[in-house]
Amino acid sequence: MNYSQKVLEHFVNPRNSGEMENPDAVGVSGSEKCGDITRIYLNIKNNIISEAKFQTFGCCAAIATSSVTTELLQGKTIEQAMQLTESDIVQALDGLPPDKMHCPAVAEQAVKSALSDYQAKHAKKGKLL
Ligand code: FES
Repeated sequence: MNYSQKVLEHFVNPRNSGEMENPDAVGVSGSEKCGDITRIYLNIKNNIISEAKFQTFGCCAAIATSSVTTELLQGKTIEQAMQLTESDIVQALDGLPPDKMHCPAVAEQAVKSALSDYQAKHAKKGKLL
């Protein structure tokens, strides 16, 4: 399989991997195609993602896409993070082999799930005030 240098580099040296203590939001996504699962943790301060971490059970591309996604998220507003697409992730990795093109969808959906989690918690807090 022909992986780009960037994919291999993120696979061998993943950024921001591991569980986050006291995250502001958590999102999970999995692929029905292969069974791989990604969990994304976010810390959000003043509408900006100050920290993102991941845990992934999956293939080389799943780990690399999760890793680069946490890098892409840092410093983004919630609105900007909502706009993150699979093709942004693929581009950041200098491409993926054709049979790995479903892998970034897992990362993208985990981000969307985390942002929904944040918005749901936020809405709840707002109601309590
Ligand atoms: Fe399933 Fe990569 S093979 S996410």
